[in-house]
Amino acid sequence: MNLTIRSSKSAEEQLEVPGDKSISHRSLILSSIAEGESSIRGLLEADDCLKTLNIMRALGVSINKHAPGEYTVYGKGLDSLEEPENVLDCGNSGTGMRLIAGLLSGQDFYSILTGDQSLRSRPMNRIIEPLSMMGVKIWSRAGGYAPLSIQGGELNSIHFAQKIASAQVKSCLLLAGLYAEGNTVIEEPAPSRDHTERMLASAGVEIEKSDGTIALKDDNPQIEPFDIKIPGDISSASFLLAAGLLVPDSSILVKNVGINSTRSGFLEVLDDMGAELVIKNKRKMGGEPAADLKVETSDLRSVTVEGEIIPRMIDEIPILAVLATQAEGRTVINDAEELRVKETDRLSAITENLNKMGADVEEKEDGLIIEGPVDLKGEIALESFHDHRIAMASAVAGLIADGPVEILESEIINTSFPEFPKIIKNKFLQEAE
Ligand code: S3P
Repeated sequence: MNLTIRSSKSAEEQLEVPGDKSISHRSLILSSIAEGESSIRGLLEADDCLKTLNIMRALGVSINKHAPGEYTVYGKGLDSLEEPENVLDCGNSGTGMRLIAGLLSGQDFYSILTGDQSLRSRPMNRIIEPLSMMGVKIWSRAGGYAPLSIQGGELNSIHFAQKIASAQVKSCLLLAGLYAEGNTVIEEPAPSRDHTERMLASAGVEIEKSDGTIALKDDNPQIEPFDIKIPGDISSASFLLAAGLLVPDSSILVKNVGINSTRSGFLEVLDDMGAELVIKNKRKMGGEPAADLKVETSDLRSVTVEGEIIPRMIDEIPILAVLATQAEGRTVINDAEELRVKETDRLSAITENLNKMGADVEEKEDGLIIEGPVDLKGEIALESFHDHRIAMASAVAGLIADGPVEILESEIINTSFPEFPKIIKNKFLQEAE
C-alpha cells in the first residue's frame, strides 16, 4: 500500500492521537503479572502492542476487550504464567521483545521470542549480557540476534551500569529483577523514559530513584492490580505538530498528550527553534503528566541538539530533521548513533529521503547536519524502509513539497499510528485521495 501526498491545505484542527505505545506495552505486561483484575483504557491498538497482547494471552493470561482501547486483564500474579506452546512473535517491536525477555527470564519454563526481519537484525546482546549475569539461560543467533530462547528460573540480582541510555534495557532488567534474589540496581548515563518505574511504583513495588540510579528495593514484590487511562503518544503527536508548524496558515491542537519530561525533549527543541507552541491544561493522566499541545505555522530557526536531551526525544529525531530543512541556518544533531539500530538505520534513511527531495542533509556517524531553509521537491516516490517513523516523517515532508509524494509500503505505519494516513488525508490534503 502506498500513501499519496498531494496538494496540502492549511488546517485548523483539534485532534487526538492514540495511546502511548511505551505505556501500552508496559500496562499489558504489568497487569498480566498483577494479583487480580486490572482495567486499561486508551490502549494503543496498533501492531506492536497487539503483538504484546497476544503474547500475554499465549502465556495463559485472560484479556477481555470491552470497547475500542478498553480491556480487562485478569492478572495471574508473578509466578503463574504458563509455558507457551509455540514461538512468541513480537513482530516489529523492540520494546516488546526486550521487555518480555526480562519477564520470561523469571519464569520457570522455556520460551522462544522472535520477530520480523527488522527486529531479527536488531542488537539483543544489550539484554543478553546482563540477563546472563543474573543467571538466565538465554540463547540467540550468532552475534546476539533473535530468535531468543530463554530458560528462566532462579535469578540473582545485579548492579548494572548501562553504557547507553536505553529504557528498553532498563525495563527488561527491572522486570527480571522482580524475580531476583536481592536488590537489582541499574545506573543510566542519562535519563531515559521512566514509565516502567512509575508504573511499578504505582502498583505498590518499592523502587528508589536517585541521581541516575534506579533500585528495586522490594525483597518480596507483588504487583497490585490497577486502573489506567493511557495518555496520547507524544511521539505520534510530534508528526501532527510538525505538520501544523510547516503547512502555511495552520493551527493544530493535539489534546491529551503525555508530556513526561523523559519524553518531552522534542517540545523543548521546538521552543528553541522559535516554534509557536503552547502547552495547555497540564494535568496527570494514568500516573503520567499530560497536556494539550497547540502549534501555529512558524518561522523556525536552526538548533544544535546533543547530549542528555537525545534519549528524551530519541524517536523524534527523524521528524526534527524534516523541520530542520525549513529552519533558517545549520541544524546539528550529535550523539544520536542509537538511531542506527532502530527499526531501520534512521540516520541513513531520513538523509536519503530528504536529499531525494532536494534537501541539504549530511549524515555523520552520530547524527546529521542540515542546512535550511530549502524548498522540497515532489514528483517522487520515497521508501518507508520498513520503519513507521520514517514513513510518517517522509509524509509530513511531502505536505510541503512542490508536487506529489508517494510513500511506498506505508502500511508499516500501523506499527504505532494506524489513524495517521486518514488524519493526513482528511485534515491536511485538498481532497480525499
Ligand atoms: C522505548 C524505548 C526507546 C524508544 C522506543 C520505545 C520503550 O528505545 O526508541 O521506541 O518503550 O522503552 P531504547 O530503549 O532502545 O532507546
